[in-house]
Amino acid sequence: MEVAAVAAPEEPDGRASRTGISRRGLIGWALGSGVAGIAVGAGGAAAAAAAGVRIGSAPVDEYAFEGAHQAGITTRVQEHLHFASFDMMPRASRDDLVSLLQDWSYAASRLAKGLDVSASGAVGGSPEAPPDDTGEAQGLTAAGLTITFGLGPSLFLAEGDRFGIADRRPSVLAELPAFVGDALDAGYTGGDLCIQACADDPQVAVHAVRNLSRIAFGRARLRWSQLGFGRTSRTAADQQTPRNLFGYKDGTANILADDAEALAEHVWVGEKDEPAWMAGGSYLVARKIAMLIETWDRLRLAEQDRTIGRAKGSGAPLSGGDEFAEPSFHGGRIDDSAHVRLAHPSINDGIRILRRGYNYVDGNNELGRLDAGLYFLSYQRSPAQFITLQKRLSTDLMSEYIRHIGSGIWAIPSGAEKNSYVGAGLFA
Ligand code: HEM
Repeated sequence: MEVAAVAAPEEPDGRASRTGISRRGLIGWALGSGVAGIAVGAGGAAAAAAAGVRIGSAPVDEYAFEGAHQAGITTRVQEHLHFASFDMMPRASRDDLVSLLQDWSYAASRLAKGLDVSASGAVGGSPEAPPDDTGEAQGLTAAGLTITFGLGPSLFLAEGDRFGIADRRPSVLAELPAFVGDALDAGYTGGDLCIQACADDPQVAVHAVRNLSRIAFGRARLRWSQLGFGRTSRTAADQQTPRNLFGYKDGTANILADDAEALAEHVWVGEKDEPAWMAGGSYLVARKIAMLIETWDRLRLAEQDRTIGRAKGSGAPLSGGDEFAEPSFHGGRIDDSAHVRLAHPSINDGIRILRRGYNYVDGNNELGRLDAGLYFLSYQRSPAQFITLQKRLSTDLMSEYIRHIGSGIWAIPSGAEKNSYVGAGLFA
């Protein structure tokens, strides 16, 4: 595999970037396809590294980057998250934005296969130049990595319409309204662009965000980022329901990947929805929700159950049955202000959302308490679904034990077609 030594052709689709990685990447793309995750013999290791192929012997889950919808929404929820929000640089132009989305999509398509961001990767390039890839994912598999890109309202509302997309902004894409009890910190709020990287290995997720941030250099810069561990939802029927940091099963009533009808109704932007370029996409809301776990931990178990409306052990609704029994709100066994009642579709015009959040612990606060919470992520066909639910939930019993401290909303375009990029429809 003398891949790195072959002269790179011109990139046919104009994806060449100021980083130069796309040109060299193309070669690795052709040769690397299908080899990610296959254990490479010792003799092939050096050549594989030179081709930007990482070596892994563990069984690998790989999710294609390209497709009708972006990966990372209905994808079987992975165990770890690295979420990042970016702002375009003050002088960045429309061309910068387009080339950034192209370069990001290209790199993401490689990363999803367990490859480095370019063919020369971490160690295959010139010893006289910094490597294209930072290298900490060498020896690791793709670990089920998905990378999902989003476009924030501020991108469409940029001063002087410097990206030329003001008239293409979905009318529903606007900053979220203030909710009762909001305690938002600008340091965890907003952003022109977002990247949601999920993987079963935290190092793989961090490697993705780190390298994509590097590719953005000069065009966009990191505004804030968040690590999450331990999924708090499920998207596959055979996935065990995980627990959040209150100790409760979370994701029991989530929309699942095989529920095509619910996805079409509640998650995917439809062909007839406006604007046409968003068809097959979705809207992502992120909320950094601090959980006052020390206070919570002093509550009687019965009071904790009352707050959620479900039993801590089994996850069953307090109205009876097993975890998956439909809750009944008659008979008074579930409090009128319990979280599950106020979040339930039956009192919210049938509204549902696809939840995909993660637990987080960011060290401790000045009181010597864990700075912990839930990084809430939800996908919906329209932001109105989240807004309706959050208005309702801002006075539920649980709101005494949580604080919304960060927030963001992004349009999530449909998936990239082969040899194209996420967001291509917006610029067509
Ligand atoms: C730290 C914050 C939160 C915690 C700890 C939490 C916890 C839970 C738990 C334990 C359940 C029951 C199990 C399940 O069906 O998944 C649940 C259900 C649900 N939650 Fe939350 N939640 C939080 C925030 C939110 C927010 C911000 C929203 C939306 C605005 C939301 C929407 C829902 C919905 C839609 C359900 C399902 C209701 C149903 O159909 O039965 N949650 N949540």
